[in-house]
Amino acid sequence: MLPTMKTALTALAATLAGNALAAPQTNPQTNALPPCTNVVIPVTVTANNVVLPATTPPAFNQVSGTYNIAARYCEPANNLHPRRDVLQVLVHGITYTRNYWSGDGDPNILTGPGAPYGGNLYSWVDFASQQGYPTLSIDRLGNGLSDHPDPITVLQIPIHIEVIHQIITKARAGSLPSPANRNFDKIIYAGHSFGSVLGNGLNVKYPTDADATILTGLSATLNYAFLVPWVGNGDFLPAATVNSSKWSTLNTGYLALTNRTAFNQAFYYPTFFDQALQDLDYANRGTVGLGELESGFALPEQVATNYKNPVYVITGQHDATMCPGLDPLAYTKPYQTYDCGPSGTGTLAQTKKLYPNANYQWYAPPASGHCWHFHSEALATFGVAHNWLNWNGF
Ligand SMILES: *[C@@H]1O[C@H](CO)[C@@H](O)[C@H](O)[C@H]1NC(C)=O
Ligand SMILES: *[C@@H]1O[C@H](CO)[C@@H](O)[C@H](O)[C@H]1NC(C)=O
Repeated sequence: MLPTMKTALTALAATLAGNALAAPQTNPQTNALPPCTNVVIPVTVTANNVVLPATTPPAFNQVSGTYNIAARYCEPANNLHPRRDVLQVLVHGITYTRNYWSGDGDPNILTGPGAPYGGNLYSWVDFASQQGYPTLSIDRLGNGLSDHPDPITVLQIPIHIEVIHQIITKARAGSLPSPANRNFDKIIYAGHSFGSVLGNGLNVKYPTDADATILTGLSATLNYAFLVPWVGNGDFLPAATVNSSKWSTLNTGYLALTNRTAFNQAFYYPTFFDQALQDLDYANRGTVGLGELESGFALPEQVATNYKNPVYVITGQHDATMCPGLDPLAYTKPYQTYDCGPSGTGTLAQTKKLYPNANYQWYAPPASGHCWHFHSEALATFGVAHNWLNWNGF
């Protein structure tokens, strides 16, 4: 069913584009995997971080450092010039890594632990590659295989924005590590959740860095009624004690979630996902720095007045972290669920206020929670995102 939808969406995109782009073969079960290489990108950055515990208004403190950012660079599986030179920079959310963008696994591994789940049914990287785009999915500073600085004073929103800005600057200059060392003409920024908060921050501070921005798992109205107890009720513990074999070297300001119920509620909308994928996702979960959480609460999303390129928000209709309304269907669900409201006037329509001078559009996959990339609608929604890119000339 889903591969059929993907083929249909791809054909639609090619028709609407009305240009010479051939519709790529898109059966995710049989396609060649995208050629991917793990790279390490050195960055040297300075940022004005928040003094913690935060005051109102916040006070700022300058921090600097040189760090290694681990990333996965994937070439397009199909060479559809000029997309070959349009790089998608993919930035994951809290408690994830670069693998969020490739079905919770490494696309270089065909089967077994580490392989992308579900034959690329959940891999944005694979979809983009089939459509002709190279991708760079990073482990954000302090996550995955990237360097882990002080999780309170250093690991905050402002320094993440500087790191991403520097990576994009290198991509345009052709100075990313080989084989990503070519001059990319255009940059598509795609974020998820905290990665989308950073995308908004990037659009505010460096409004020409992204030629197009896709913000997934975001709205202008965070659901604090859900998020504040979720973060604060003691389910996040020092990662080094949660799993000492995996995280023994981490400073105690790096935290991991210990409550499976809380994980399910924040990230998934029952019952529209594969239970085995959710189990894998919990087993593979990553960490979060205290400074990421606290700077997130101290620095709200801002209006990106000077950002004038296209922006597309794609957030699950039932995203517990971003949709403030109670779900009218909640009584049929095993736990309290949330709803972003009507398409024309709801939370995502109102999120346009962050982008007064941009071509703003939004889409809510209807049966999805926060991590819609791991729900049944993922592949169809990858198609929606890439149609939007196509319509916008990328
Ligand atoms: C700790 O991490 C290791 C390596 O990823 C994993 O095999 C193990 O199951 C984890 N232990 C617990 C208690 O989660
Ligand atoms: C786990 O989270 C759920 C949902 O927030 C909560 O009801 C429950 O009390 C938590 N369990 C523990 C052991 O903290």
